[in-house]
Amino acid sequence: MSRLQNVSVLVSGGGRGIGRAGAIAMAAEGATVGVLDLDAGAAEAVADEIGRAGGTARAWKVDVVDPDQVAAVVEEAVQWAGGVDVFVHSAGIVAPAMLKDMTLESFENVVRVNLTGTFVCLTALIPHWTGRGRGKFVALASPAAVRGQVGGGNYAAAKAGVVALVKTAAAELARYNVTANALLPIAATEMSANVRENPKLEEKFLGMIPLRRWATPEDIAPSLVYLASSDSDYMTGSVLSVDGGRTI
Ligand SMILES: NC(=O)c1ccc[n+]([C@@H]2O[C@H](COP(=O)([O-])OP(=O)(O)OC[C@H]3O[C@@H](n4cnc5c(N)ncnc54)[C@H](O)[C@@H]3O)[C@@H](O)[C@H]2O)c1
Repeated sequence: MSRLQNVSVLVSGGGRGIGRAGAIAMAAEGATVGVLDLDAGAAEAVADEIGRAGGTARAWKVDVVDPDQVAAVVEEAVQWAGGVDVFVHSAGIVAPAMLKDMTLESFENVVRVNLTGTFVCLTALIPHWTGRGRGKFVALASPAAVRGQVGGGNYAAAKAGVVALVKTAAAELARYNVTANALLPIAATEMSANVRENPKLEEKFLGMIPLRRWATPEDIAPSLVYLASSDSDYMTGSVLSVDGGRTI
């Protein structure tokens, strides 16, 4: 298992859920992994888990909306790993509410973490990647970006913005051999726990998924390995759905 030998990856939101599963899977393929999360303990636990399995990882506490924190982590990671080849941006939040009840504060906060956070992380890597003539940005967007989301207008709008940002980055950075792609997942994680805790809501939700079941974070991880590997070198500006058919 060495599809990511000599590849260094940073994973934001790597302390939990899809980011965690991706970090572990990429490390198992030989990648050197920086685990970034607002939750320092969670990031450290994942880095320790990777280390115990024989991989190489380090944890950083970082808030993805803070440009100074992100820039400092990128600089340290470049020193630590000898460069950053891939950035998987998995950090995200939800704050469910119907539009009629949604506050401006909730809307702006969800957009800030999900969309502005993507901008902050992406732009922090651009000088490094254009300078060395390679780099891969992978953003976790959502089926909500394409389908909208009842009770998640803030989140759907933010994730649609993420897709637009990724496509723009792909077009602007292709000349530097830098790629950007978006992954639209569905998985049973803490983020989606509110749906699973409500049987009626879950039945409705699964009714919109042709495969009629949840994925685990580990089901999503191989797609992150693929997007981080040279197998995806000719892929840029793509929107890859791993969502049981939700976006059909
Ligand atoms: N789970 C799903 O069904 C699903 C569906 C569509 C899209 N997504 C997207 O996939 C990504 C991962 O989702 P998940 O289900 O693993 O979520 P999760 O809630 O399990 O994990 C998100 C992680 O991001 C971290 N985080 C949140 N805000 C942060 C910040 N400001 N700075 C740094 N870290 C921060 C959290 O601490 C947490 O560890 C998210 O972008 C999410 O929007 C998930």
